[in-house]
Amino acid sequence: MPRPLATTETALNQNNLLPLAQQYPGPFWAYDAGVILQQIEKLRDFDVIRFAQKACSNIHILRLMRSAGVKVDSVSLGEIERALVAGYQPEGDDIVFTADLLDNSVLQRVAELKIAVNAGSVDMLHQLAAVSPGHRVWLRINPGFGHGHSQKTNTGGENSKHGIWYQQLGEALQVIRDHGLTLAGLHMHIGSGVDYQHLQQVCDAMVGQVIESGADIPAISAGGGLSVPYRYGEDEIDTRHYFSLWNAARQRIASHLGHPVKLEIEPGRFLVAQSGVLVSQVRAVKPMGSRHFVLVDAGFSDLMRPAMYGSYHEISVMPADNSAADTGTLQDTVVAGPLCESGDVFTQLEGGTIAPRALPAARVGDYLVFHDTGAYGASMSSGYNSRPLIPEVMFEDGQVREIRRAQTIGELLALELDTGE
Ligand code: LLP
Repeated sequence: MPRPLATTETALNQNNLLPLAQQYPGPFWAYDAGVILQQIEKLRDFDVIRFAQKACSNIHILRLMRSAGVKVDSVSLGEIERALVAGYQPEGDDIVFTADLLDNSVLQRVAELKIAVNAGSVDMLHQLAAVSPGHRVWLRINPGFGHGHSQKTNTGGENSKHGIWYQQLGEALQVIRDHGLTLAGLHMHIGSGVDYQHLQQVCDAMVGQVIESGADIPAISAGGGLSVPYRYGEDEIDTRHYFSLWNAARQRIASHLGHPVKLEIEPGRFLVAQSGVLVSQVRAVKPMGSRHFVLVDAGFSDLMRPAMYGSYHEISVMPADNSAADTGTLQDTVVAGPLCESGDVFTQLEGGTIAPRALPAARVGDYLVFHDTGAYGASMSSGYNSRPLIPEVMFEDGQVREIRRAQTIGELLALELDTGE
């Protein structure tokens, strides 16, 4: 049964989306602020909720996070500047910069503003110590194993470039002591889509690392990676259970160290995925032998996850005449975009196998709504095929407002035309 367009529980329903779709000439992202606030509440047991803004870095969404008491993680100079514009303060761990290397421009900025750094390599510690004595650092540990919804989102183990290998922790601590850096805490993020079995393993690894290394730390971070139900009817993750496992790890560490230890969590997807949809318009419908293709005006330059990981997003048909989609009569449909690539297909498995979806009939002019695209949707868009970035709107307190306008073709060309030639 294809996912119906919600009618009451969120703002992302046909009544709200259809007028917008008719107003915008092309595809757009829509978010419901209420969903984000609900997701935040589910994690309130943690001492600090830190939003991994890579999932959705729109400044207006960062402002919403900040007003709800959520801190932020940045992974580039651009993400640091976004956090500052959204009102986050550089000092006091409001912003943490997480990466495996420091490029020159980031190094200069974090040193100048004293933004805490979550170091993913010992080299980062040396580079930071050279320009910013006493700088606050977290250590991101690769515990030697990882897990992800795709191999591409597994961030642990020896095939991953992420974090400081656990056997190098002693060396990292020595560099911190030798150069007078300030240790803020230990951090582990083994991937996106972590299951309970790996979760217990990572909690145990965190406790083991603290005890073995002799590190005295004020805080630990559980990283992100909490999954969301992308398939209609799938269960939500049990955040109480998630907290209870990490809380037990924190307590073991606290009793070993003899003082309280703060517990952070750093989700991206969990906070925003379900708050967003991508609305696109059907522009062509055609048979290809035994296959039925529906082509929409959004492509993988907008929503990259299906092409990149074979990710599944529920798709609803929103008829242009505001009737209800006929969910009684379904047809196996391949949904594809406008790009010049065969991989520009939204219904595919990892590796590229086409996976037609049973969908209600969609005619040219109708709209297709891609669900749960609030995370790694707009933030992973590109300008491939010279397609400008599409707008973002947000529903909040019964109102809707544009939170990013469409990029213009002029802006797209300006970087090449403004060369002074
Ligand atoms: N913390 C660190 C250090 C991370 O590297 C990530 C994600 C997160 C937190 C947040 O992970 P989340 O809670 O959102 O799963 N583009 C992929 C996901 C890549 C995530 C990279 N790092 C996707 O669309 O699924």
